[in-house]
Amino acid sequence: MLGPHAQAPRAMSSSSEQTIKKPTKVLFVCLGNICRSPSAEAVFQAVVKKRGVADQYSIDSCGTGGGSSNWYLDGGFSYHEGNNADSRMTRVAATRGVTLTSLSRPLTPGDLQDSDLIIGMDAANLAAIRRAGEHWQQEGKLTPETLATWEKKVGLMTSYLKEDGKFKDKYNEVPDPYFGGEKGFELVLDLLEDACDGLLNTLGNK
Ligand code: 4NP
Repeated sequence: MLGPHAQAPRAMSSSSEQTIKKPTKVLFVCLGNICRSPSAEAVFQAVVKKRGVADQYSIDSCGTGGGSSNWYLDGGFSYHEGNNADSRMTRVAATRGVTLTSLSRPLTPGDLQDSDLIIGMDAANLAAIRRAGEHWQQEGKLTPETLATWEKKVGLMTSYLKEDGKFKDKYNEVPDPYFGGEKGFELVLDLLEDACDGLLNTLGNK
């Protein structure tokens, strides 16, 4: 996992020797990509915009099959693919001025390769990402570096909860709200607002 001393990636322009900063690619991942990760995407978008650093980030979200076991295999199926965010999640987010716009899609080999940071909502998401990554590695769909650099880029959303916030050490995952009531959706947003702030602090944009 990219830790507290993580740096945004830099690319050198060989012609001018000037340092050009490429946008940091942040990918949020959950199970269905209709509740938690699209909310994380929208909340983090709002946070980078508020701090005036939106041009430094490329932000996206995806899912890990939504409960399908073959989602990462060739011809596999993902529940909710192409769907808008869950209407309950969308409604609760809207009460906080957060608009959910993304459509559900599953994680791809390209995501694993190209993202600078891949942030799962719970341990099962991380296990699913790992399972898919190992399969794609065996299939030759990933460069050898992708799994070798895994620990630096893949981590949990709750690891970014603010040190001085009210949730630090109280949650080790963003709980799945899908089968619960309104309170679960509110909790998802409470945790995401705190952790997205913490994430941007970690990345150096205080
Ligand atoms: P998400 O929530 O992973 O936060 O998008 C869920 C969405 C769908 C299901 C479970 C969780 N589902 O079982 O279909």
